[in-house]
Amino acid sequence: MTSTQPVTSNRPGDWVDTAPRLADLEPGRFNMEISTDRYVSPEVQQRERESIWMKIWQVVGREADLPEVGDWKVFELFDQSYILVRGNDGVVRGFVNACRHRGNPLCNGSGNSKRGFLCQYHLWSYDLEGALKGILAEKDLAPIDKSKNSLIQVSVDTAAGFLFLNPDPKAESLGDYLGAEVLDMLEPYHLDRMVTVMDVREKIDCNWKVVVDAFSEGYHISGIHPQLLRVMTIESEKSRYRLLERHAVSCSPFEVAHVDKYTPEEQVQGIRELPETFPSLMRVLPRFEEIVDSHRTDGEPLSFPDGVTARTILQKATREVLTETGLDVDGLTDAQMSDNHGWVLFPNFFMTVRAGEATVILAQPDPEGDPNRCVWQIISFMYLPDEMTDALRATPFEVKEPGEFKYFEALQQDYEQMPRQQRGLRNEALDHLLLVSEEVVVAHFHSVLDRYLAAGADA
Ligand code: FES
Ligand SMILES: [Fe+2]
Repeated sequence: MTSTQPVTSNRPGDWVDTAPRLADLEPGRFNMEISTDRYVSPEVQQRERESIWMKIWQVVGREADLPEVGDWKVFELFDQSYILVRGNDGVVRGFVNACRHRGNPLCNGSGNSKRGFLCQYHLWSYDLEGALKGILAEKDLAPIDKSKNSLIQVSVDTAAGFLFLNPDPKAESLGDYLGAEVLDMLEPYHLDRMVTVMDVREKIDCNWKVVVDAFSEGYHISGIHPQLLRVMTIESEKSRYRLLERHAVSCSPFEVAHVDKYTPEEQVQGIRELPETFPSLMRVLPRFEEIVDSHRTDGEPLSFPDGVTARTILQKATREVLTETGLDVDGLTDAQMSDNHGWVLFPNFFMTVRAGEATVILAQPDPEGDPNRCVWQIISFMYLPDEMTDALRATPFEVKEPGEFKYFEALQQDYEQMPRQQRGLRNEALDHLLLVSEEVVVAHFHSVLDRYLAAGADA
């Protein structure tokens, strides 16, 4: 290496420096015409159930949902019901929520029972590891081999603080499903240490893929979120994409668009407006203002030295504030201090993540199997010093009446848009929708979906 070569930081977030831009991704690589059947047909929904939902790893909560031995919660997928429970050894396990006697569900909702589960029907009991322990009037009955009648176990594992479940007993490991690259890239954010500061679930009138699609492209920002244009550069030559076998991550720099056309004072104003949409920036703004002020000279318009912009000041302030409060951001690049990376973990997990915060959008199929409906869940996380976590930790909120929960501005705009799109998709004369090149992550997602549907239930 010669001394003139730039020093690379060897942080996983460096992928953005070399990953393809839109122009580098071969056009024609993906099918851009997506059949509308996929959004409205009960038959397709049924195929998805068999080929995807019953076969893949899916996020069912957070490890922190079950902090204590004996903590349990139920996860429902269509008409299937599973119990997740933390055992005496501290491991979270998953079981089919059905008693081995005559199938009664063992629990509903969530709770804690250190002594295990008691079926209310004929009072059989199971321990936290699923073993059948007690049978009512056992000595009066013909012998029953208890060891053959444990609860039916399903695979549960954790990554980045999320609990994943896979209903398929033949499933590959979660590590193989996500892949080492994904785990490597996520590790430096310390998602496992982030605390949930918002957790809302609501039924909405659109197919689950309308949600995934909506969060996989920035092409709708001008139409639906014009207020974000000042800070989200959607100049396509600046976005970077990493399309993996199943999953995808992309990044559009967090930058005042066409920064060279704005004065430093205007750039600073753009950053000040950000907390409307990215509330956790509030904690960084005071430091940001201090650094900006250090560049002010009395009586002169604000000016920055070469190489300094509002974006680089925001990055510096973010690293300083998080580090000063004892949080580890060493594994993240400067760009990750300001830029959100948009992740799509197949099939239904979208996450936007930046140093110190993340928001996840999960889209679950309608429990009744209606392709025109789904349940979305928005979970926001912050990486906080221990002494602040209890004050800011949110409890889950289930929206019963539409409109009862006011999402932050950009999310509210998406929430209102998605049912509108679904109504359009229901028109029978519209047999396909057409993706544009900027929607490459959407196209990639549908290509993975095609693969799973083609492989079918027996794959
Ligand atoms: S169904 Fe559970 S004890 Fe009979
Ligand atoms: Fe949006």
